[in-house]
Amino acid sequence: MFRAIQFAILSLFCATTFAVQTVVIKGSDFVNSVTGDRLQLLGVAYQPGGSSGYNPASGVDPLSDGGVCLRDAALMQRLGVNAIRVYNVDPDLNHDMCASIFNAVGIYMLIDVNSPLAGESIDRSAPGTSYDSSYLNRTFAVVEAFKSYPNTLLFFAGNEVINDLPTSGTVPPYMRAVTRDLKNYIAKHSTRSIPVGYSAADFRETLLDSWNYMQCTTTGDDTDPSRVDLFALNSYSWCGDSSYQTSGYDVLTADFSNTSVPVFFSEYGCNKPSPRIFTEVPVLYGPLMTPVLSGGLVYEFSQETSNFGLVTINSNGSAQLLSDYDSLQKQFNTLNVTMLQGLKAGNTTVVAPKCSSSLITTQGFSTNFTIPAVPPGAQDLINNGISPAPVGKLVTVSSTKVTQTVQQSNGQVMSGLAITPLADDQSNNPSGASPSTTTTSSAPAATTSKKSGAGSVRSSLSVLLGVVTIAAFYSSFI
Ligand SMILES: *[C@@H]1O[C@H](CO)[C@@H](O)[C@H](O)[C@H]1NC(C)=O
Ligand SMILES: *[C@@H]1O[C@H](CO)[C@@H](O)[C@H](O)[C@H]1NC(C)=O
Ligand SMILES: *[C@@H]1O[C@H](CO)[C@@H](O)[C@H](O)[C@H]1NC(C)=O
Ligand SMILES: *[C@@H]1O[C@H](CO)[C@@H](O)[C@H](O)[C@H]1NC(C)=O
Ligand SMILES: *[C@@H]1O[C@H](CO)[C@@H](O)[C@H](O)[C@H]1NC(C)=O
Ligand SMILES: *[C@@H]1O[C@H](CO)[C@@H](O)[C@H](O)[C@H]1NC(C)=O
Repeated sequence: MFRAIQFAILSLFCATTFAVQTVVIKGSDFVNSVTGDRLQLLGVAYQPGGSSGYNPASGVDPLSDGGVCLRDAALMQRLGVNAIRVYNVDPDLNHDMCASIFNAVGIYMLIDVNSPLAGESIDRSAPGTSYDSSYLNRTFAVVEAFKSYPNTLLFFAGNEVINDLPTSGTVPPYMRAVTRDLKNYIAKHSTRSIPVGYSAADFRETLLDSWNYMQCTTTGDDTDPSRVDLFALNSYSWCGDSSYQTSGYDVLTADFSNTSVPVFFSEYGCNKPSPRIFTEVPVLYGPLMTPVLSGGLVYEFSQETSNFGLVTINSNGSAQLLSDYDSLQKQFNTLNVTMLQGLKAGNTTVVAPKCSSSLITTQGFSTNFTIPAVPPGAQDLINNGISPAPVGKLVTVSSTKVTQTVQQSNGQVMSGLAITPLADDQSNNPSGASPSTTTTSSAPAATTSKKSGAGSVRSSLSVLLGVVTIAAFYSSFI
């Protein structure tokens, strides 16, 4: 009976478009704009088919098929993630249903503006010639397509474009140029300020120089648009049953301890040895690292040829959990979410360092802080907006049940797999449920951390309304 009421109340939620609270940056923290609580990213990379599968001609990208997103959102919600990173999107496709589904379950989206196709990213071997107005037009189109979803958390201007010593000499000024253009575009054409950052390769020689190069200010204050709002790194140094010291996490944490912007792992999860045991999770979200880092995203949701998957997805839409999914869930379940997400953002704002060649320590890394000029034609796009501009908006998520067949890692078919829409002041969190538990039609997929703030008044009212409606419904049968 209680379950039935709970289910009906949740169904009532589905009929309404709820929205996560937007996230802002304060100092080196991601912060819920309403509650002021810090947000630690518990994420997964999400690019089914892999980068090589990105093909706009197919009319599909990772966020264009609501049925697929519903299946994957249900599996992610059960796991406890609150963020996805999507590498390649087609700005001209409709992402409303997928964005709305992820929003409904309290999952934020980190969107890369580039694609592996020619002309749709900065070519690290020829940054000067690939930085042009046609390239920028497409990156601005991605901003237009995603700027109106409240769960769009940030944009990545680039991913691993600096990936060795030669590229570190030539690419950095262009990464700042793209960052500047994106930030200027967002400032003019988005009602909300959406952060822009860079995702660095796991290449120690250039990591700290990349961070300093991207976080420093050329103008002497934080408003320099070519300065990143956040810095992320793809980190694969914790392999197997490692430790804080052996993995080098201790050195990373010390290195970034005085960062002026949020720092997090935009990818993690070394897969040698495999299957993975994810013992880095309690350390990444433990007392040594959370004061400095803002969490991370596991690479990656779907099983691809590189063997980093949590879930195998078949071409007919069916899916099966891998043991890595169970292991990750077990580790997520050990986290004290109340403590993790309930922290107030610190007041210790580190002033951005002034750009100077003295910040750069590796021979050959660019010390040129004269940022390339906006290419011909592109300032007009920044001033007036691109045309036609794609428009994204939240839509009602009316179906919550997963229709595809999904199997547990032991082969058992999961019955009643569904998303559980959350109220508008909640982000998703680990459920504490045992990985081997079969879901039932009314099983709550995840516990949520209740936060105070304006939003909760609205959701409490909705609950009340739901209870009243249900009570009326039941009394009509008595
Ligand atoms: C700019 O992007 C929009 C949206 O993707 C597209 O319709 C338009 O053709 C592009 N313009 C140019 C000049 O590439
Ligand atoms: C879908 O594909 C998988 C893997 O090829 C297969 O095991 C399964 O039987 C198929 N399911 C349906 C409903 O066709
Ligand atoms: C989790 O953290 C909260 C807040 O710090 C604390 O009150 C609670 O006892 C912790 N729970 C566990 C199981 O450690
Ligand atoms: C941050 O500073 C404000 C104003 O100085 C103060 O009211 C608040 O308590 C401080 N918060 C923390 C977590 O120190
Ligand atoms: C961070 O610490 C390093 C090493 O102690 C120092 O050189 C650098 O100036 C500091 N940066 C900031 C922004 O305070
Ligand atoms: C620094 O970069 C600017 C534009 O990005 C370029 O015009 C200038 O020649 C570069 N300076 C040096 C010393 O390479």
